[in-house]
Amino acid sequence: MADPRIARISNAIRAIPDFPKKGIMFRDITTLLLDPAAFQDSIDLFVARYKDQGIQVVAGIEARGFIFGPPLALALGAKFVPLRKPRKLPGPTVGVDYSLEYGTDRIEMHVGAVQAGERVVIIDDLIATGGTMGAGIALIDQAGGKVVETACLIELTDLKGREKLGNTPLFVLVEYE
Ligand code: PRP
Ligand code: ADE
Repeated sequence: MADPRIARISNAIRAIPDFPKKGIMFRDITTLLLDPAAFQDSIDLFVARYKDQGIQVVAGIEARGFIFGPPLALALGAKFVPLRKPRKLPGPTVGVDYSLEYGTDRIEMHVGAVQAGERVVIIDDLIATGGTMGAGIALIDQAGGKVVETACLIELTDLKGREKLGNTPLFVLVEYE
């Protein structure tokens, strides 16, 4: 039987048509954050998934991975590492460029934040085309970390983002077409 927490999470995510541009159905997790029981359910499901997997690092992707990553990291007794947009981190960085539908973007992390061989989960709110998460994997790989799994609350399945993740598994709570 389906876990009733999934329906509670799905019901708490708001859909806003034509944001940020016409034709996009924006999946807004800020309404989930207004519902502490549903927000807690989402963290509990991630904690249950990773608590026995020897995870040493939770890496969160800016901006919405910074919401879900830290409570997961604290529950696992793991480090939290922010993967940030360019020119945000003050220390020496390593970065990966990736393509968007139009143009390119880049994510960066501090040198030394992830040590070679550390077991990492990368978390974000949503996977769409998979470009962002794919770049996150490349960044952790570059540092010698082992990406055990990637995790998102939401997968937009029609966009086939998981195909950009190579052999790295993706765990999601809620799917939309
Ligand atoms: C959104 C989302 C993911 C990314 C997914 O972030 O939170 O990080 O897009 O898209 P992709 O799978 O096609 O790469 P956004 O770029 O809107 O940045 P923000 O969280 O800083 O607003
Ligand atoms: N990032 C990329 N596509 C998105 C969508 N449809 N909703 C929320 N965030 C997104």
